[in-house]
Amino acid sequence: MKPIGNIFIKNIAQIVTCEGNKAKRGAQEMNAIGVIEGPAAIIARDGIVTYVGGMAGVSEEETRGCHEVDASGCCILPGFVDSHTHLVFGGYREDEFQWRLAGDSYMSIMERGGGIASTMRATRNATLEELTASGRSHLDAMLRQGVTTVEAKSGYGMDLETEIRQLEAVAELERTHPISLYSTFMGAHDTPPEYKGKEMEFIHFLLDKVMPVVKERNLAECCDIFTEKGVFDHEQTRVLLNGAKKMGFAVKMHADEIVPFGGAEVAAELGCLSADHLLQISDKGIAAMADSNTVATVLPCTAFSLKAEYAPARKMIDAGCAVAMASDLNPGSCFSSSVPLMIALATIYMNMTVEEAITALTINGAAAIGRADQVGSIQVGKQADMAIIRFPSYKFLSYHFGMNLVRDTIKSGVRYPVI
Ligand code: NIG
Ligand code: FE
Repeated sequence: MKPIGNIFIKNIAQIVTCEGNKAKRGAQEMNAIGVIEGPAAIIARDGIVTYVGGMAGVSEEETRGCHEVDASGCCILPGFVDSHTHLVFGGYREDEFQWRLAGDSYMSIMERGGGIASTMRATRNATLEELTASGRSHLDAMLRQGVTTVEAKSGYGMDLETEIRQLEAVAELERTHPISLYSTFMGAHDTPPEYKGKEMEFIHFLLDKVMPVVKERNLAECCDIFTEKGVFDHEQTRVLLNGAKKMGFAVKMHADEIVPFGGAEVAAELGCLSADHLLQISDKGIAAMADSNTVATVLPCTAFSLKAEYAPARKMIDAGCAVAMASDLNPGSCFSSSVPLMIALATIYMNMTVEEAITALTINGAAAIGRADQVGSIQVGKQADMAIIRFPSYKFLSYHFGMNLVRDTIKSGVRYPVI
């Protein structure tokens, strides 16, 4: 059983609620973050929020037996939802990073057998215990940054045994770490050497031999694919994701990351929960996303790390898309889970307002994993997942950039002090 608690947070200077049960789309909705000025209070029982409002409205009876936390001078936001990570992997690629700094490209390293294939070899050689321990250390760092829900993908095995082992590590972390995990099967991350040149055969191997085991053992809720020139094309994407939907998986895509490839349009057509990256999304792709229920997830730290252009978040929001933001933590294109860096890049380089960045990291992140009815906002009936920051206004998240402002993370009504 995960820890759950009864908590009374009092004297709060400001609450950002992000209230709602679905993704917010367009500038107006994404900027309306729902601010309650203090002195305010939040009460939760058995890990679920039961009161959000002024201190004056709190009755003694409601707070009886609760763990009391004083939040004078602090702003409280919904716990952040990191809706795109490759949390579980073997080995590191620190040399590759230096090659890229010296001018080598991500795709050329991948074509030479480095990149994802290099992590695949290390992951195939890693034990369940090693994978779990490394995933846990990243989750610990995320919890300290106010992150309370994390999506985690497989995709560094690309064979039955290792894909299952990665997902078992995610399941073990879900059982034993405070953070809630959402598990995604991403066997179609690259084509492993044994299937090179036989991409469609590999897709059928995943559909026929791997995914039934994943489903039967309930090891993933969603299926993702790297749709990119030289990796998987539109037809392979359609075959995999339509097959996945038939088996009861939700679907999502890595789309338009390196070159313009029309991935966003395919994601909208297939009813993906989200299309992620979108650095190279076309105007047609933006229109298709705005017209669909697919969340457009931007991953600013990856663009930063690849020295690439940022996804056109401003254009997407102004066109009416629902934009989420996530870390993409992985050992190659983005070895960072930094929330402060994400917010800085979004507000300074991507022209998102701080309010939009907060929406993207909370309720829209939750929508990108189909959990907007449970997490992503502070409201009665939802999980008591929150980040308490040591400044009285959410605006400090962009103003005091690059700093971890989180004083305490609250997960399911339990307090995890950071400082
Ligand atoms: O989201 N693009 C594909 N997958 C990851 C990178 C994985 C890796 O380089 O190991 C991404 O950028
Ligand atoms: Fe990714």
